[in-house]
Amino acid sequence: MNDYKNIIIDIAEDVATITFNRPEKKNCMSPDLHAEMCDALNEVRDAGIKVLILTGAGNAFIGGMDLEKCFLDNWDEPEKFVEGVEYSFVWMKHLKTFPAVTIAKVNGWCFGGGMEVVGLCDIAIVAEESTWGLSEVNFGIFPGGGTTWTVARNMPSRKQALYYSLTADTFNGEEAVKLGWASKAVPLAELDAVTQEVANGLVKKGRIVLQKTKEVYERVFDMDFPEAVDYEIAKLYELSRLTNDDWIRTALKSFKKREFKPGLEEYKLTRNDV
Ligand code: ACO
Repeated sequence: MNDYKNIIIDIAEDVATITFNRPEKKNCMSPDLHAEMCDALNEVRDAGIKVLILTGAGNAFIGGMDLEKCFLDNWDEPEKFVEGVEYSFVWMKHLKTFPAVTIAKVNGWCFGGGMEVVGLCDIAIVAEESTWGLSEVNFGIFPGGGTTWTVARNMPSRKQALYYSLTADTFNGEEAVKLGWASKAVPLAELDAVTQEVANGLVKKGRIVLQKTKEVYERVFDMDFPEAVDYEIAKLYELSRLTNDDWIRTALKSFKKREFKPGLEEYKLTRNDV
């Protein structure tokens, strides 16, 4: 494992956790942190995990981009500036297509680029007490570098998306659920336990089915209905092939024996590679 200075990686069986670890700076993302994240995502992907949790140390999730180290300090050295920012695009693009299920565990402050990270994750479990904001207009820019894309994708209402982008008003974790940024909000004291419970449930499901569920969702988003039907049926055949028809041969045979109720629970995996 690499010797990281700005993040901590913990891998426990099928679940990896990456903790943004600059608590004294509210875990804002410096060029060094971005460079480490490029390596870290490759490392946890290669570990073959099923679930990746992203969280922050101390009382912040991510206080956005490091406004000094990413922007102010490097602006007059264009090559250095581009390099620092480019690292962020590399890992964030990887996060968007990450094969494992990604969960943002939002424990506190979450601004700008931090909201982008949450917006790229598949699931977000957040502390009710967390504070969120698109603060960019407060220092004279619009939410850039992909943040507005995540605003448009995660905040379904145009009126809400533009309201928060234009005013930079903050909101809390409960409001984040209503606005579309989070899957569920719980008291901070319960955040670790609830996130672990969700992760434990996910690892009981098949690796391929988790991966294909994500892939299909992402691809059909911009398709019309007939295209989506064709694509989804083709992907079902792909999944069947990759899992040696496990859903028919194992899951539905088990259902026929009345061994489980698919409405309420998953079938028992016979192999960890399906
Ligand atoms: N970039 C650089 N330094 C930061 C950032 C950041 N994004 N966020 C916090 N810090 C630093 C502070 O400057 C301070 O440094 P210091 O100890 O050297 O003075 C340290 O982290 C602690 O922060 P405080 O402001 O003292 O903590 P406080 O609890 O009072 O406030 C808050 C927390 C509200 C998060 C405040 O730090 C803040 O407004 N940060 C900026 C948030 C932001 O707008 N981020 C940019 C989003 S837009 C984008 O990502 C492109």
